Amino acid sequence: MKNEVKVLSEKCDKQTSHSNKLNLANLSKYICFALVGFSSIASAVQQTTTDLNEQDNRNEARAHAKELGSNLKTRLQEAIKRGGLEVGVEECKLVAEPIAHSLSKEGWTVGRTALRVRNPNNKPDDWETAQLIKFAEQLSENVTGPLEATHVDGKTGEFRYMKAITTGQVCTACHGEQVSPSVLSAIKKAYPEDEATGFKPGSLRGAFTLRYSPTDAE
Ligand code: HEC
Repeated sequence: MKNEVKVLSEKCDKQTSHSNKLNLANLSKYICFALVGFSSIASAVQQTTTDLNEQDNRNEARAHAKELGSNLKTRLQEAIKRGGLEVGVEECKLVAEPIAHSLSKEGWTVGRTALRVRNPNNKPDDWETAQLIKFAEQLSENVTGPLEATHVDGKTGEFRYMKAITTGQVCTACHGEQVSPSVLSAIKKAYPEDEATGFKPGSLRGAFTLRYSPTDAE
């Protein structure tokens, strides 16, 4: 933007001195001021639109993350009520991915991730790993409020969003330090590569992770 103004001012100066000869100096100046003025306004408008889009995307991401969280919770609670934690594990295996898929539409991809995962399909990429490390640090420093991260790719316009998920007391039955042997064996059976036990209440369990690709939305 600064460069644009500079180039435009230089152009103006040149044109002004050139037009002096033609006695059009004043007129030319007005045009140039109008141009510089317009380009600043245009770019300010563009800036605001981008901010608004980002705000919209963030709000939509929050809503999708909430939907995924509450859908999973409902199914988990029902399953545990029906047949205990072991059935809860089976239910999670059956429904976690399909629910995430069903919410992934109109350019959005919705999921969960963690530094130590139960389902290897939930492994984080580099950006997610960096955010998860940051969330864990913020939690250990008792940072209050929701822990979130966003990123916009300047080239593709892809928007990314993450929200931390902490370990609640109820989660420790399947993710804690002392998981009962029968639950543990159900977990190992369904997820032989499980890394997602040993979490203390209040510690970072993982995060919701979402992406919005403008091109996929078309
Ligand atoms: C009945 C056992 C059970 C309980 C209770 C449970 N989970 Fe899980 N959790 C699972 C299973 C099974 C998976 C793997 C789901 C899949 O295939 O994506 C999982 C996966 C996850 C993941 C995705 C990352 C990964 O490790 O693959 C997060 C995040 C997570 N759980 C958080 C929680 C939180 C937070 C709670 C408490 C509110 C909780 N879980 C309670 C069984 C459980």
